[in-house]
Amino acid sequence: MNSENKYILGIESSCDDTAAAVIHNGLILSNVVATQKIHEEYGGVVPELASRAHQQNIVPVVDLALKKANIDKKQLSAIAFTRGPGLMGSLLVGTSFAKSLAYGLDIPLIDVNHMQAHILAHFIKAEGQEIPNFPFLALTISGGHTQIVKVTSHFEMEVIGETIDDAIGEAFDKSAKILGLTYPGGPLVDTYAQQGDPKRFKFPKPKVGPMDFSFSGLKTSVLYFVEKQTAENPNFIAENMADICASLQFTIVDYVIDKLKNAVKHTGIKEIAIGGGVSANSGIRKALKEGEKKYGWKTHIPRFEFCTDNAAMIAIVGELKLKAGLIADTNVVAAARLKL
Ligand code: KG4
Ligand code: ZN
Repeated sequence: MNSENKYILGIESSCDDTAAAVIHNGLILSNVVATQKIHEEYGGVVPELASRAHQQNIVPVVDLALKKANIDKKQLSAIAFTRGPGLMGSLLVGTSFAKSLAYGLDIPLIDVNHMQAHILAHFIKAEGQEIPNFPFLALTISGGHTQIVKVTSHFEMEVIGETIDDAIGEAFDKSAKILGLTYPGGPLVDTYAQQGDPKRFKFPKPKVGPMDFSFSGLKTSVLYFVEKQTAENPNFIAENMADICASLQFTIVDYVIDKLKNAVKHTGIKEIAIGGGVSANSGIRKALKEGEKKYGWKTHIPRFEFCTDNAAMIAIVGELKLKAGLIADTNVVAAARLKL
């Protein structure tokens, strides 16, 4: 079989989404995600519940991905899976499943780094999605990660900045929780923010290395601010929700843009590709587009389904690694703290 004509199954189970996708020549034939609703009740992902749900979901999700791609599992050429980073119990489900299936079908197994996959999601062939040119800067922003990476080739990546504590999505979600919004609060903060005054309240921007991030202090300042104001006016949050959200979002977006400006200056690279669930944020999208005019950046924002945790991004890495002959050993194990 020639190397161009292969069907590869991607499996993603690093956090709270069980996902499977089939890729063929760079084109995604199916991209199935089962999002676990159970965590909403707890205001955050409960690892033990996540791994149990993965175990329930994985067979039907893979089955559906094959059906939607209109292929039989015997047509698969390789299985790619997320090895890490992520929650160990969750990773174990996908890893064990991928190993067994590859072994049963007697086809290659390909281990994938989840962070590398967020970046290589930009190489999926999709309408309206332009593939970035090397070298470029990748900004991966989600509920679990906040990184700026210098990408020199598909497999040469250097983390040049990252969060020293909470991820950016946690800053949104934890602040939203303080405001009484349901989990995950990021999209709600974004919705309120669009109706509010971003300059009304001031929140501090934490000081760390020029390309690094810190978000844990931000939620604390939101907490103190809200407690102080509510002591004077018990209806403060309800009466000012839009302005609080707009001011919070303004602070976070401005902070991200500052960091990108520093990264561009440090590397001389002006092409920026973003990924991760927080790239859905309207403020970030707008600021990046403005960056094209103001600073001469070229920016890439993939389709939303390839931004959030998904298996299409695992499948594209599978395809690229298979072409490069980068196959996993059958004794490969999940790695919760896998580095780029
Ligand atoms: O990539 P993702 O689906 O999962 C991981 O965390 O890996 O990202 C989810 C995160 C959550 O923190 C959610 O609140 C945030 O992305 N998010 C947003 C928006 N949409 C999703 N944050 C701010 N504004 C949004 N529009
Ligand atoms: Zn992710």
